[in-house]
Amino acid sequence: MIKSALGNNGPLLPRLGYGAMVLEGFYGEAKHSSALSTLHHAMDQGIMIDTADAYGDGHNERLIGEVVQARKDDPFIATKFGIVFDPEQPSREIKTGWGFSLNINASPEYAQKALDDSLQRLGVDAIDLWYMHYPDPSVPIEESVGAMADAVKQGKVRYLGLSNVTADQIRKASAIHPINAVQYEYSLWRREAESELLPTLRDLGIVLVGWSPLGSGFLTGNLQKLDSSDFRNTNPEMRGENFDSNKARVEEINQIAARLNLTTAQVSLAWLLAQGDDIFPIPGTRRTSRIDENLLAASVDLTPDVIEEIDRLTRPGTFAGGTLLD
Ligand SMILES: NC(=O)c1ccc[n+]([C@@H]2O[C@H](COP(=O)([O-])OP(=O)(O)OC[C@H]3O[C@@H](n4cnc5c(N)ncnc54)[C@H](OP(=O)(O)O)[C@@H]3O)[C@@H](O)[C@H]2O)c1
Repeated sequence: MIKSALGNNGPLLPRLGYGAMVLEGFYGEAKHSSALSTLHHAMDQGIMIDTADAYGDGHNERLIGEVVQARKDDPFIATKFGIVFDPEQPSREIKTGWGFSLNINASPEYAQKALDDSLQRLGVDAIDLWYMHYPDPSVPIEESVGAMADAVKQGKVRYLGLSNVTADQIRKASAIHPINAVQYEYSLWRREAESELLPTLRDLGIVLVGWSPLGSGFLTGNLQKLDSSDFRNTNPEMRGENFDSNKARVEEINQIAARLNLTTAQVSLAWLLAQGDDIFPIPGTRRTSRIDENLLAASVDLTPDVIEEIDRLTRPGTFAGGTLLD
């Protein structure tokens, strides 16, 4: 598996990771026992495991903690703080482009509490990579990152990350403490990160961890329709007529995949990996077989012609529907 450093002075890690949010049942049922086997399988591959205290309101971290405790190795775990579910906690409401609101608190006091809770749920002494999930509109990012830097000094966190931030916020944060990774939506249908964010990250030696690299399943060519209870109905790219017009665009990727004897998921991931050794996609799946299928994308060498062909077919603006951050 190809590896790269996770940012300046960061550890060497496989470029493809595993996103554990899918184990919370957002995109279909995930039974406890199969979630545990899926996590064991992902950890057996030595890949970065991505979670957040927000996924299942702590449940996802507990699930990962259960698996970590049963193992003798030391898997690389990334988690996040800043989305609040406890009505007793102060928070700021932000509206997302997917129509729902999130309650955010990235104050230094809350960061400290959230970190101790995450450590306890994961059952570890230190978190490998700790992200601020969303910037808090009422807290200067320097203060949030100052608290995160204190956590590094206390030995509770190894590396710092930010998620869903702007280039300007990244520069301000980096002036306070080195940031190793920024998590942002990055996939064939969400390429906004390429214009301003990615050049800033490259300037500062920070890697881009691409969330929902398979377009929440849409860019695998496997999704035919959504159940009415499916969380993805909130995503404008999958709503109404956008679903059908975007499906026609994915059909073009399906054809490239068939020509190359690959799956569409593998082509989607291989193209992202070809964009630079500082791109770390974190696909999620409930199935061990798909972890293997997705990891094979790391051994695919797309030719420059194919990379260019996919680039042309997926230029920003090609797919209909806005982003979570709109
Ligand atoms: N920072 C943030 O704000 C943020 C936001 C969203 C997500 N994330 C992170 O990004 C991770 C990944 O995102 P995601 O789970 O939303 O989306 P994703 O990885 O783009 O897609 C996951 C979906 O793809 C399906 N899938 C995976 N591999 C497949 C394959 N080879 N063939 C067919 N279908 C396949 C999965 O279904 P099955 O389970 O049925 O295989 C699942 O429904 C999350 O786990 C989370 O860690 C972060």
